[in-house]
Amino acid sequence: MNDHHETEQDAVPQSAAEIWESRYADSDRVWTGKVNGVLADIAGALAPGNALDLGCGEGGDAVWLAQQGWHATGVDLSPTAVERGRRAAQSAGIPASALNLIAADLATWEPSQTYDLVTCSYLHSWPISFPRDEILRRATDYVAPGGHLIVTSHAEAPPWANAAHHTDHEFPTPESELNALELEPHKWEIITSELRTRETVGPDGKTAVLRDVVIHARRIE
Ligand SMILES: C[S@@+](CC[C@H](N)C(=O)[O-])C[C@H]1O[C@@H](n2cnc3c(N)ncnc32)[C@H](O)[C@@H]1O
Repeated sequence: MNDHHETEQDAVPQSAAEIWESRYADSDRVWTGKVNGVLADIAGALAPGNALDLGCGEGGDAVWLAQQGWHATGVDLSPTAVERGRRAAQSAGIPASALNLIAADLATWEPSQTYDLVTCSYLHSWPISFPRDEILRRATDYVAPGGHLIVTSHAEAPPWANAAHHTDHEFPTPESELNALELEPHKWEIITSELRTRETVGPDGKTAVLRDVVIHARRIE
């Protein structure tokens, strides 16, 4: 008989990387695999070039970008999520040259080039905090002159969220997101900075209306 009883403390992962990895490893799929509406809406009107998706998860947005003709790179903390994105790309017939998914921590990862589009959909992490503002601010340096930055974030927790996971989470507002980005006025044109609502279906099958913070800015120089 094994007399070691796993305590709740044993089972709690310690770092954000472990938390996200176990979240992805615990299920076959966490997200829908579909592109986020805000990205489709804004990037759908842009001419394709090189794109970078920060916190790409299972690759829904990055795969969509590649399908629209972008040369897409996605970065996420979870190797399982990244591997899932690679498989989704393969199944969609996307050539390896059009999509590069990388498992890395954005707190330390640095790109070797700039991009015509840098996008970031729902880059949140709880219960462990992470240097989100610093990551967003650095993301602005990754945008090439003439390029676009799209940041979409949860403005509130969905009604089905585990309250314990969100109690300490500070949700952004359009103002706090712009403050975090520190966009220099002579270098950036702010095209959109607003709250948008979207309808979604929760795990209980019920429809809910959620609010997102949406920032879209174009780098002038
Ligand atoms: C709410 S999910 C959104 C995933 C995806 N963008 C989407 O919309 O489906 C947040 C993602 O951010 C990733 N993430 C959190 N902290 C990160 C970090 N420091 N570096 C890279 N990715 C991170 C998580 O692994 C997770 O996949």
